[in-house]
This record gives sequence, structure tokens and C-alpha cells, in this order.
Amino acid sequence: MGDLLAGIDRRTWTERLGPGTALLRGFALADDAAICAAIDQVVAAAPFRRMTTPGGFVMSVAMSNCGPLGWVTDASGYRYSATDPANGQPWPPLPALFLELAGDAAAAAGFPDFVPDACLINRYAVGARMSLHQDHDERDFTQPIVSVSLGLPATFLFGGLKRADPAQRIALTHGDAVVWGGPDRLRYHGVLAVKAGEHPLVGNCRLNLTFRKAR
Ligand code: SIN
Ligand code: FE2
Repeated sequence: MGDLLAGIDRRTWTERLGPGTALLRGFALADDAAICAAIDQVVAAAPFRRMTTPGGFVMSVAMSNCGPLGWVTDASGYRYSATDPANGQPWPPLPALFLELAGDAAAAAGFPDFVPDACLINRYAVGARMSLHQDHDERDFTQPIVSVSLGLPATFLFGGLKRADPAQRIALTHGDAVVWGGPDRLRYHGVLAVKAGEHPLVGNCRLNLTFRKAR
């Protein structure tokens, strides 16, 4: 019984989306206000910005990062950087709550001992979207991706290992976490344009945290 009282009670409903993929419904709900406060702190030091792809397109999603490494893109390519290109400073540290949340989500999905060194913070204003892509800028594909969604709902596209493979459409709502790794680590994924709405805590946008072990 004692164990049930230890730590945060993360009531969750787990759905398997693939051999290495779990959708943890409501996993971050118990911490939502604290996560949002931590995001506010990060973006006070490293403001959201819309970055440019190597192909010259300005992304509709605004991004920031925290942790030892941050994902960035510009004309010279996609990469991880220890500093924020906007100010040359290190990214803000990963809040302890984020490390715990990401580690717990990974463990719940069957990936023990996940310690991310990068947290990308995505902000989707209404209409923002992310086209199908693979996460392959990391060195170690044995480590999973942990994604936490907050605010307005969105349709997550979860495809296969080839771009043309059919994609499942998954409605992600406030507090949901998705973990993909192992045989699913390189599956294509994306997000359809976010529809207008108002979330009581987050307002008129969707926030997404993706935790990765980049190095
Ligand atoms: C990503 O692939 O980096 C973000 C996924 C999401 O926003 O749900
Ligand atoms: Fe991604």
C-alpha cells in the first residue's frame, strides 16, 4: 500500500499504438499547472520563436528549448545546439519536474532509465501544424521520444517507417503523453492544423513538450 502513496498519482489510461508506442491518456494532468508555470519560466529566458527550415520555410510552430541541448533549425540545417542562437546563452535548465515526468512516462511505456538531455517546447497557435517527419537528429535510437500535450486538442498523425505508409489519426488532448521507441522510434509523425478554441489553463494554443536523448 505504501508504494501507492509515493510520488505523484498519475491516473492514466494506456493505449498501445504499436510494439514500441504507448499513449498515456491524462499522464500529465496532475501536474498541468506546474508544467505551465515551468514553461513560462523557460520562455521568459528563451522566448518562443518561429524558426526557418533548411529549405527556407518559416515553421508555423513557435519553439523554445530547455536542457543541456536544444533542437534548432536554420538555413544551414537541423541540429542540436547547447546555446540559444537568439542570444548565445545556454538554454534554461530542465526543470526537475520535467525530468521526472519524462522518466515516469518512458518507464510506464516500457523504457526504464530514460534521462533526456533535450526538451523541445512547441507552441501551436490556431492553424499551426507540423508536417510528417521522422525524429532522426539524435545519436542513440535506443532511447525513446516522450511527447506531452497541453492546451487545445490536436490530431496527431502517427505513420509508419516510410513516409508513404498510412498514418493513424490520434486525438491528443490536454495532459496526454505519447512515448515511441524501440521498433517504432523512427516512425513518421506530424500534427494537423490546430483548430480554434480556448483552453481554461493554456488559452488559445496547444503546447507540446518533446523529450529526447540527443547525445
Ligand atoms: C514533434 O514531432 O516535435 C511534435 C509533436 C507534437 O507536437 O505532438
Ligand atoms: Fe517529431
